[in-house]
Parts: sequence; structure tokens; C-alpha cells
Amino acid sequence: MDALDRKFDLRTPLCDLLGCELPVLLAGMGGVARAELAVAVAQAGGFAMLGMVRESPELIEAEIRAFRAATDKPFAVNVIPSATDPLLLQAQISRCLDLGVRAFTFFWDVVPAVVEQVKREGCLVLHQVGTLASARQAEDAGADVIIAQGIEAGGHVHGRTGAFALAEAVLDGAKVPVVVSGGITTGRGLAAALTMGAQGVQCGTAFLATTESWAHDYHKARVVQAGTDDTVLTDVFVLNWPKGAAVRVLGNSVTEGLSGRLMGHDPAELPREVIAHDSGQPLLRFSTDSPMRHTTGSLEEMALYAGQGVSGVTDIVPAAERLRRIVEDAVDCLRHPNLRPG
Ligand SMILES: Cc1cc2nc3c(=O)[nH]c(=O)nc-3n(C[C@H](O)[C@H](O)[C@H](O)COP(=O)(O)O)c2cc1C
Repeated sequence: MDALDRKFDLRTPLCDLLGCELPVLLAGMGGVARAELAVAVAQAGGFAMLGMVRESPELIEAEIRAFRAATDKPFAVNVIPSATDPLLLQAQISRCLDLGVRAFTFFWDVVPAVVEQVKREGCLVLHQVGTLASARQAEDAGADVIIAQGIEAGGHVHGRTGAFALAEAVLDGAKVPVVVSGGITTGRGLAAALTMGAQGVQCGTAFLATTESWAHDYHKARVVQAGTDDTVLTDVFVLNWPKGAAVRVLGNSVTEGLSGRLMGHDPAELPREVIAHDSGQPLLRFSTDSPMRHTTGSLEEMALYAGQGVSGVTDIVPAAERLRRIVEDAVDCLRHPNLRPG
């Protein structure tokens, strides 16, 4: 990586802002992006996020301490203000601030008061959004970085626009760095993002299928096997989230059982049936939980999050190796653009 960096430097001003060497952000994947994965990405030069949506302050503290015990690289904590009980959210943020967290990544609908709250404490705010209006709202509230999430993305999908189309609209007039998120698993996506004027990419699926990720081996294996057409956007995995919140998952027996009606499901009408367990906690069919390292039960029926770039992930490797390949591919693309000479 060092030799490569010297020949072709991918550093953008965003890297200086975040304190990382490479313009690749680990998505703050709830459950999946714990300290083990975040440390691996940070040490390899990317920017790390701890995915702490709806986690207890105690778990957040344990993960922050584990991260800091392994590396002194910077990191952000990811939470989702508009989808978290306000009391829990304030407890999460207070604990992070007590522990001296310097950066947050927020997602979904913008809650300006929360952005302003952590900005007053001197924190950096990265905000992922899926619409141009939300991007402007986040910037107006004080966000330092806008992450433009496209419909290709794995996990919860905020908007309905393609990642590059949205990034293009956001870039037009944005005063802060823009990052492209959704469907990017190889260096081609990184090269395209940098070429269009974005300052980095955020990757979820690419880092889910790594040795350090907290996802269950079954989920990782399904990602490795999947092809471009194997994901679907549906709001059937919605228990515990507001009605209409869509997710991109690998098609499974649950989505196949919908006879094509992927959208329009009401959480109040979905049956409550336990299909799996994690650390003694029951997990329901149609919930937003995806299988973690220690989950047992009917994993096939759970939400197996993956983005449309899933076909670019063909093996499970350490996160540093995934990052190395993405960067090497990007450098290769940027060196050899497909232009006619003369
Ligand atoms: C397993 C999984 C869990 C996710 N959980 C979160 C989350 O808790 N918070 C968040 O901001 N984004 C979450 N996302 C969405 C990512 O931030 C990002 O938009 C997405 O991974 C980008 O698309 P890609 O997976 O194709 O790279 C999740 C994505 C995946 C794949």
C-alpha cells in the first residue's frame, strides 16, 4: 500500500478532516461494525465507524474502550436519531461525550437539534441521507460531511435515487465534502466517486464479508455467493421501525413468499413469531435484525442485508485486504481511463 500510495495518492481533503489516510469509510453497520472490524479498517488506513444503533450506553462504552485499547486512530460512533427512543438516544450521546468521542455519523431523517447538540461539544458530524432535501437540511444544521446514500445500498435505504445521481445533485452547491454510499464494493466505484468530485466512498457490504465483521458466517457466505440480481428492496423487515422504512436484503424465503408485493407492509399487521435467538433474546420474523456471530435459529429467514454491488464480493478476507484491493483497483482505473488517445 505504501509504495502504491507514493505513486498515486488518493488522499482527499476529507482524509485530513477525518484523520485517515484513505478516502474509504466503513459504514456504521448496526451489530456488524463493532470494534474488531472498526480497528481493522482504521489500522489499514480507512475511516472507522462503530455501528451502535439502539445499543445500550454500556455496550457503546465497551466497544469504544476496545477500539481505543487496540489503536489510537480516530473513529466515529453511528446512531440513528429519528429511529431511536429519545431517552436512549440522549443516554447514548451523553456516554459518548463523557468518553470524549470526537465524531458522530447520523443516518435517516435529519434531527437538527441533535446535530447542533454534538456540534456545540466540538464534534465532527457526518450525516448520511438519501434525498437532496435531507442533504441540504443536514448541512444547514451544521453537518461537516454529507454521505449520499443511493437506492443500491445494503441495509436501510433512505431515498429512491441512485448513489451517483444523488451525489451529483448534492455536490452541486454543497460547501462540505460529499461521500458516495451504496453499491460500491470495488475500486471502480471509488475511482468514479473521486473523478466526479466526491471526496470518498462509504462501504457496508464490502466490509460485511470480512473476517473481523460481527455478521454471522451464514450471512457472509450468502453475500459471497450472491450475484447482482439477488437483492431486493422491501419494507417487510420492519418490526421496530416506522412503517414504510425499506431495506435492501438478499432475496430469501420471506421475500419470495410475498408474491411480488415487496412494499406496503404495515408493522401493526405482521405476525409476531420468534424465529431465532441472540444472547438469550428472542428475534422475530419480519424484524430488522440480521444474524450476528452468535445468533442461532432460522437464519435464512432473517434480514440478510446486502447492496447491489454484492457480486464484487467473492471471498471473505481480512478487512485490510478488502481495503487494499479497493484502493489498488481504484488506482488502476484512474491510471488507465478508457479514453481514445489523441
Ligand atoms: C448489514 C448492514 C447494516 C447497516 N446498518 C446501518 C446502521 O446501523 N446505520 C447506518 O447509518 N447505516 C447502516 N447501513 C447502511 C450503510 O450505512 C450504507 O448506506 C450501506 O452499507 C452502503 O451500501 P453498500 O452496503 O452497498 O456498501 C447498514 C448496511 C448494512 C449492509
